[in-house]
Amino acid sequence: MLNYNSQNQLCFSHDNKFSDPLINIVNNLKYEKPIYLYYKEELEHRVRFLKNTLSPIEIFYALKANAFAPIVQMLIKEGVGLDVVSLGEIECGLRNGCPPQKMIFSGVGKSHKEIEMAIRLKIRQINVESIPELLRISSIARSLNLKAPIALRVNPDVDAATHPYIATGLKNNKFGIETIALSEAENILHSNLDSLEFLGFSLHIGSQILDLNPFQEAFDKLKNIIIDWQSRGWIFNTLDAGGGLGINYTQDDFASEEKLAQQWSNQIKNSWKNNAENFFVEPGRWLVSHSGVLITKVEYIKKTSHHQFLIVDTGMHHLMRPALYQAKHRILPLIKNNNFEPQTSYQIVGPICESSDVINSEVMLTDNITEGDYLAILDTGAYGSSMSNCYNQRELPLELLI
Ligand SMILES: Cc1ncc(COP(=O)(O)O)c(C=O)c1O
Repeated sequence: MLNYNSQNQLCFSHDNKFSDPLINIVNNLKYEKPIYLYYKEELEHRVRFLKNTLSPIEIFYALKANAFAPIVQMLIKEGVGLDVVSLGEIECGLRNGCPPQKMIFSGVGKSHKEIEMAIRLKIRQINVESIPELLRISSIARSLNLKAPIALRVNPDVDAATHPYIATGLKNNKFGIETIALSEAENILHSNLDSLEFLGFSLHIGSQILDLNPFQEAFDKLKNIIIDWQSRGWIFNTLDAGGGLGINYTQDDFASEEKLAQQWSNQIKNSWKNNAENFFVEPGRWLVSHSGVLITKVEYIKKTSHHQFLIVDTGMHHLMRPALYQAKHRILPLIKNNNFEPQTSYQIVGPICESSDVINSEVMLTDNITEGDYLAILDTGAYGSSMSNCYNQRELPLELLI
């Protein structure tokens, strides 16, 4: 988490230990552009906690959340596998030391080339999202004289009660195989057992989920499917609960987040304990969000009759979440002014030529913010840098693990 030290400088802190003040890091780097800073101790704590809490459930980190090499290497060193969704992510995993046997391949649009690569590499599991994909995988595996290790991703038609753009388990979403199509998948499996190795089922109902009820509903629905298939003689050993566990973006409440992770773990274990040997999860946000901060510089303070804008040098091209999901991130100055209470409402906006380039529409800060001040945008370790782009021909931010 982030805290001010006795000199009012913002630092990462963990177990009452402070990191070097962020302002020192900025000054040492001779700041030229926005910086994603990640704090290794926080990341280590998160992954170790989740590993202990979930054990023996295996963790496959969703690489899409953050693919910065030092982070990926650190997580792999901690023993987690990867959930990958493209050839680029497979290659990123390989480059950073993840063996194919510790990768799960998800995603609705796997190309011929990607599937062939996954089969040749002997990736641990391919989560199949549609009937045509299942047929394509079977035919590619046959042509290679190999068997593809697959799990069927089921769309359980469950409302994850999250932002519609990150809900993935409803019947009108493009993700997973709807339950009425499972009998077709079963027939295809029956007739293609020479090229398909059926490992089990997977789910992923959405992201930033803080209410565990939708998870339970999905696990129960899948359990009925499992019992049904087992009654017809199917033998499989893997159940993958996906990711989606949410975090608190409005305040630091790590104790509640850890309690939620514990409850999630119990849910998975209790729901399926007699139905398989291997249980997987694919968390992304929960592992990496809190360890990251985006540092930006105030370029202008623009007062209009409607707003007091802080125009900063980062924006929706570096952090898409506010524009895409109306996400709210806390924003703090790198140096706190003890003599002034935060009492001025600012709209923090970026340089991009879009009106959606608003990082936060209302942040209370002191009224003595000046051009050249630095601000930290909190909890940006997940879906921050990995979604960033060069729109308006602007540079990508710098990234650093400290
Ligand atoms: C298939 C799959 N697994 C896991 C995740 C990770 O989700 P989260 O970061 O919410 O844990 C995603 C995110 O979109 C996903 O699509």
